[in-house]
Amino acid sequence: MYVCLCKGVSDRKIRESVSDGARSWREVQQETGCGTQCGKCACVGKAIAREAITSE
Ligand code: FES
Repeated sequence: MYVCLCKGVSDRKIRESVSDGARSWREVQQETGCGTQCGKCACVGKAIAREAITSE
């Protein structure tokens, strides 16, 4: 499912960025662009990134 419509980032893309080495929400943002435009998706994006990071 798409988390970020502005940048077209899916939950899968966020998880991929974590398995590729992103270790914080900020790094996920830098890599995917999620939450860097309107910011509406930041809350959900951050939660998915955190969950993925803690389960790494
Ligand atoms: Fe993600 Fe707008 S929906 S920045």
